[in-house]
Amino acid sequence: MSDSQRWDDVDDYFSAHLTPDDEPLAAALADSDAAGLPQANVTALQGKLLQLLAEIQGARRILEIGTLGGYSTIRLARALPADGRLISLEYSARHAEVATRNIARAGLDKLVEMRVGPALESLPALADEHPPPFDLVFIDADKGNNPHYLEWALKLTQPGSLIVVDNVVRGGRVADAGSAEPDVRGSRAAIEMIGSHPRLTGTAIQTVGSKGYDGFALARVTG
Ligand SMILES: C[S@@+](CC[C@H](N)C(=O)[O-])C[C@H]1O[C@@H](n2cnc3c(N)ncnc32)[C@H](O)[C@@H]1O
Repeated sequence: MSDSQRWDDVDDYFSAHLTPDDEPLAAALADSDAAGLPQANVTALQGKLLQLLAEIQGARRILEIGTLGGYSTIRLARALPADGRLISLEYSARHAEVATRNIARAGLDKLVEMRVGPALESLPALADEHPPPFDLVFIDADKGNNPHYLEWALKLTQPGSLIVVDNVVRGGRVADAGSAEPDVRGSRAAIEMIGSHPRLTGTAIQTVGSKGYDGFALARVTG
C-alpha cells in the first residue's frame, strides 16, 4: 500500500467517526465543484480543527483571508456566538459568489461578511474602519503575501488572539533557503516572522492526509 493510500484510508476512518455526514458542507463542496472552483479547501478534519480552535479560543470575531467556496468559512462561523462576526476576504468575485450562496444555505449569512478584492487592499480599508480586535485570523490565500498578511493580522488583533497560517510546508520546499518560489519564500518569511517577532509566539506542524503532505503554523499574539 502506498503512503498516500494509507493516509486516505486513515482520513476516511477518522472522518467517518469525527466529521460524519454534514449536509451544508457537502453541498458547499458539490456547488464549488460544479462552479469549477479549485479543490483548494481544507479537508473535513482540518475544517473541524479550525472550528475547535475557534471554540477553544472563545472567538467572537474572526478574520479569514482566502474564502474560495466558503468551506472553511462555514466551519469557523459555526464556532461563533449569535452576535459574533466573521469577515472573509476573497480576490475572486466568482469564488465569493459561490461562497455567499454556500454560507447562506448553511444558515450563517447573518454572521459572515464577504469582502471582494485583493486582500492587501481590503485589509487597509478594514483597518481604517477601526474594527474591534479579531480573536482569530485564518490566513489561506496567496502564500507569497503571507508575511504582509501576518503584519495586518498583528494590527487587527490583540494579546491572546490566535493566527493560523495554512499550507506552510509547500511539499517540503519550505526548508529550502535558496528557493525562488514566491509561495515558499512567503511561507519561510511567515515562519521566521513568527519565530522572531516580539509580539508573537508560535509553532508549525507538518501533516499528512487525504490532501497529501502539508502543514500549518499557529501563532498567538502575546503583546
Ligand atoms: C486555498 S484557497 C482558500 C480555501 C478556503 N480557505 C477553504 O479552506 O475553504 C485560496 C483563496 O484565496 C484567494 N486569493 C488568492 N489571492 C488572493 C488575494 N490577493 N486576496 C484575496 N484572496 C486571494 C483565491 O482566489 C482562493 O479562493
